Amino acid sequence: MESQPLAIVVLAAGLGKRMVSQQPKVLHRLAGLPLAAHVLRALVPLSPSRTILVVGHGAEQVSSTLGNSYSDGSLPLDYVLQSEQLGTGHAVLMAAPLLREYHGPVLVMYGDTPLLRSETLASLVARHRQSGAFLTMLTCIADDPSGYGRVLRDQQGSLLGVVEERAATLVQRAISEVNSGVYLFDSDWLWPHLDMVELNAQGEYYLTDLIGLAIEEERMRRPPRPDSIRKSISGVITFTLEGLDEAMGINSREQLAQAEKIVQTHLRQQWMDAGVTMLLSETVYLGMDVQIGADTVLYPGVILEGRVQIGSGCVLGPNTHVVDSKIGDNCRIVSSTIEASTLESDVIVGPYSHLRAGAHLGQGVHLGNFAEVKASTLERGVKMGHFSYIGDATVGEDTNIGAGTITANWDGVNKNRTNIGKEVFIGVDTSLVAPIEIGDGAHTGAGSVVTKDVPPHTLAVGVPARAIKKLDET
Ligand code: UD1
Ligand code: CA
Repeated sequence: MESQPLAIVVLAAGLGKRMVSQQPKVLHRLAGLPLAAHVLRALVPLSPSRTILVVGHGAEQVSSTLGNSYSDGSLPLDYVLQSEQLGTGHAVLMAAPLLREYHGPVLVMYGDTPLLRSETLASLVARHRQSGAFLTMLTCIADDPSGYGRVLRDQQGSLLGVVEERAATLVQRAISEVNSGVYLFDSDWLWPHLDMVELNAQGEYYLTDLIGLAIEEERMRRPPRPDSIRKSISGVITFTLEGLDEAMGINSREQLAQAEKIVQTHLRQQWMDAGVTMLLSETVYLGMDVQIGADTVLYPGVILEGRVQIGSGCVLGPNTHVVDSKIGDNCRIVSSTIEASTLESDVIVGPYSHLRAGAHLGQGVHLGNFAEVKASTLERGVKMGHFSYIGDATVGEDTNIGAGTITANWDGVNKNRTNIGKEVFIGVDTSLVAPIEIGDGAHTGAGSVVTKDVPPHTLAVGVPARAIKKLDET
């Protein structure tokens, strides 16, 4: 299919006063992603020719968080600055210089409506293209319209305009159809008319005033005929959703929490449909970029955040927190925290263990209670059952790390490495003072403080540990 032009302007400059936050509103997170990133995610399938974000409050923070493109470069982004937040109409105007050469539909939406789906936006765009209208507006029928601009219609149902709640009469406030803040404008109509929007009593230029302007102009152009009520204003059309779930705007922490509830319900449903069991599903928290294999069971209190991949047949929880990590098939993780780590299949962790950035556990590794692993690779079959710390180390296959073992990897200036070979037996309470090498098949005695390399198949004991005997190599 030949791609048709589409420019998108996302408004993200507002202060977000009602969030009571130092952080720009559009960077507040929902299911782990900034609100604006949810919007961008929904835009990717529309393949726009241009996507412009209007930023102002915390502009640098917003642009550095979202970057120059979204979704691995598939959605290139441009930023324009609205240095003074003079309203949504003024914000759109900031994008005009970037679209001077562009002729075609302009999709305008707000960065604080994270739940809008691509499919809905695509239908809206398709509808706009087919209709030949110069303005298409997305409206919603809300159970509770409070806080939103109300859509005004005459007795025949023809659109009249939008009134903000602040300016609405009591009768208007009772209207359940609201403005979702998503519009398609024909560019040649948009720019000259945006210039005509006047400053209102709040000291702002409202984008919504454009609707009234458009209607007025249409009426003057072709006076409505009583026999063709809605069609009489064909230059301006609406597309209406039932319910506000998809189009809700986030203005406050309470609305952020409501949206989180909606997203979580949806994500849980998605993964349960894909074969994941959740005992007490309402206690499970999932990020947007989580993948979970079939027949995995999530006990209560499981939190999966960031980019997380869980294999099939795993049992996670209770109370397990996994962030930006990959976990293979048939793993069992109990009451533990796993950050930026990789676990191959059949790994057992916990309860109460902590895998920090760069932990890599090979197949069948078994970590028990109070294990901490950082920037270390534990090869297949390593066992480390009780309160130990392994940092900046490699541990070879089938090595056993005794209770209370630590790698003393930090000498106050540098991080030093520990290399432990395969089939090593580290006795309880061993301190491995890095940099250090423990050869294959070596043993350390209980309470050793190992300061010198231990050759393969050698037993070292004491403080500091001395090699006392060569071991059989069987
Ligand atoms: C707006 C609409 C309202 C609609 C609702 C839907 C207007 C005047 N009102 O109200 O009809 O029902 O959204 O969610 O448009 N922004 C800027 N620059 C500004 C002002 C705002 O970029 O100068 C951005 C904000 O960052 C935000 C978006 O525009 O992402 C909407 O602004 P907000 O203040 O949240 O408008 P609402 O009061 O929610
Ligand atoms: Ca809003």
